[in-house]
Amino acid sequence: MFEFPKDFLWGADTSSHQVEGENTHNDWWQWEQNGKVKERSGKACDHWNRFREDFEIAKSLHHNAHRFSLEWSRIEPEEGKFNDQTLSHYREVIQSLEANGLEPVITLHHFTLPLWLAKQGGWLSNKTPDLFARYVHKAVETLGDGVRYWITLNEPVAYVFKGYFMGEWPPGEKSYEKTLQVLGHLLKGHVLAYDQIKEINQRLKRSPSQVGIAKHVLIFTPCSERSWKDRLSVRTRNLMFNHLFVKALIRGRVLYPGLFHIRLPKAKTLDFIGLNYYTRDFVHNEGFTIPAIFGDICTLKHHREVGKRNFLSWEIYPKGLYRLAKEFSQYGLPLLVTENGVCIEKDGERFEFVVSHLRQLAKAIKEGAKVIGYLYWSLLDNYEWAEGYGPRFGLVEVDYTTQSRRVRESGKQFAEICRSGRIPGEDL
Ligand code: NOJ
Repeated sequence: MFEFPKDFLWGADTSSHQVEGENTHNDWWQWEQNGKVKERSGKACDHWNRFREDFEIAKSLHHNAHRFSLEWSRIEPEEGKFNDQTLSHYREVIQSLEANGLEPVITLHHFTLPLWLAKQGGWLSNKTPDLFARYVHKAVETLGDGVRYWITLNEPVAYVFKGYFMGEWPPGEKSYEKTLQVLGHLLKGHVLAYDQIKEINQRLKRSPSQVGIAKHVLIFTPCSERSWKDRLSVRTRNLMFNHLFVKALIRGRVLYPGLFHIRLPKAKTLDFIGLNYYTRDFVHNEGFTIPAIFGDICTLKHHREVGKRNFLSWEIYPKGLYRLAKEFSQYGLPLLVTENGVCIEKDGERFEFVVSHLRQLAKAIKEGAKVIGYLYWSLLDNYEWAEGYGPRFGLVEVDYTTQSRRVRESGKQFAEICRSGRIPGEDL
């Protein structure tokens, strides 16, 4: 048996665009209306109107924390004009979380941008870091009293790669140069937001809050262990996708492959590191130029034995969480598992997923990793971006025609872990 630390955060996540519904003022909504994806988000889970019911469910499942995101396009639907009704709504959301004993973990940017800003070039524009900081200032000043955990950016590197390198998400760009430009602006946006949060806390004499990012992390494995080229691509990917963004925030500067040097206004702007972990990728080298050095994913091209896969064909690889918790311990900051979850058709496999990952996390904690919580993705089935409504990640099933909620068996089993703070196992 393993007992997690006493004040461990246990809970689940949501994000605004994926659950609220009718987020008509952001770039994703526009992308959907332009037919760029197979399904539109529409009413999503109608969480905008049903958040109270959803948080009561989370409470009944013994969660003590909940991660959600503020929708910038609702807070600032027109440039420089903040919407008081939206701010009151989010105040009620936070009050409802607190009334249900759920510690709010608040994300300030979860993939979506206000449409007015997207039209000005979004994160490609060098004005955006300041505009982000202004929005953060307003949100934190109005809503932040008592909030202990802020996440400035969700999966910045995944966001940039999907939107500016692969062209699969808005704005649909495919350029390494733009990718780096956007990475630079996101890094700066984080630093400015970090300063705003700290300044507000001090000025208003609030209790201090912790600021971090939710970093998408992956395990990379060479398609062929014998190939030094594949191993080189694995190292490059690990650096580029997993570490450089975090290193940049800690050191205040970074050198991206291709000799792009980014300097930030200051160093040490992370109080904790959020880890979003799902899977591992097999990597095959494609050459030595950029981007060929990053290699290609070879799961289908080069057959290798892998574990089970989820509904989206991502391999389920629990050991990866142990490895990454150990690897990220090098930074000496607390780690929070901000996302870990699975979409599968048979709910029975969900609890197996959770327990097997928690076992790996327990192992890392026993060996010294400072992990402060585990948040499952997701509380509810929801809109999985370009993949639409097919994948079901929820501890709670959502019927999208009636909007009724039904707690899955796995949700109840996870509840028992949240209640006791323990997982079974003689070897632990
Ligand atoms: C990453 C993202 O933060 C979230 O929006 C997404 O739904 C899950 N992981 C699953 O892909």
